[in-house]
Amino acid sequence: MSFQIIDGNALAKKIRLEIASRTAALVKKGIKPGLAVLLVGEDPASQVYVRNKVKACEEAGMHSLLERLPADLTEDALLKRIHELNLDPCIHGILVQLPLPKHLNSHIVIESIAPEKDVDGFHVANAGALMIGAPIFRPCTPYGCMKMLESIDYPIRGARAVIVGASNIVGKPMAMLLLQAGATVTICNSKTKDLSAHTKEADILVVATGRPKMITADMVKPGAVVIDVGINRMDDGKLCGDVDFESVKSVASAMTPVPGGVGPMTITMLLLNTLEAAERL
Ligand code: GUN
Repeated sequence: MSFQIIDGNALAKKIRLEIASRTAALVKKGIKPGLAVLLVGEDPASQVYVRNKVKACEEAGMHSLLERLPADLTEDALLKRIHELNLDPCIHGILVQLPLPKHLNSHIVIESIAPEKDVDGFHVANAGALMIGAPIFRPCTPYGCMKMLESIDYPIRGARAVIVGASNIVGKPMAMLLLQAGATVTICNSKTKDLSAHTKEADILVVATGRPKMITADMVKPGAVVIDVGINRMDDGKLCGDVDFESVKSVASAMTPVPGGVGPMTITMLLLNTLEAAERL
């Protein structure tokens, strides 16, 4: 059976060119899309992610603002800053990097972002819109996964999709997008019994658990398309996904690599959401 790597870097590059040209057209009309990224504390992985998000914005010709805030910032101070950004006409998208330090309630913080600037799509207004099949902002990681499936012309209608991981950021919105595209969807979680009985049924397998290489070849249906959302740092410093790429590639028909798969697509969809927020004005 033939095997195809779904190249997230190449797809991201192509979509970012389109985003840059739409951005330039908007700038000509006097609107420069602007994204504010708030990072509270000094989580090393988060620092890398936010730097990449801001850099991608600048490369696309957008305005970006990275605010590094102290780990002991009070919730009131964070809410006040978000309120100011909600009113700032130069800012079209607001992203608060998660996870937040434990003393901050992420639900309260996310709900304080104006829904029309919530480019992560995490606000309940946006999560609800997605749930009823009328999305305004699709959460960036699942949105990027859908674009990757589209890029290989995968016939999603009628396919069996299994998602391993039920987070609000990836698993649940991924399920909604696949359902909307006509897939029959199962969401597995950490309490699922006999996980491989589910994963082996999947035509489309999406894995977002944060557990390195947990999906092995014996858990995958021959010919399945496998989307690996995990990014884990191994003891030797190398990155790996939640899927054991080396073994699964002999069973799957297509798979996303780590790095160079879902990661660059997540940032690309953030740019697209920010652009669309500005275009809607
Ligand atoms: N932390 C991990 N993924 C994400 C994401 O997509 N958005 C935000 N805001 N924080 C994250």
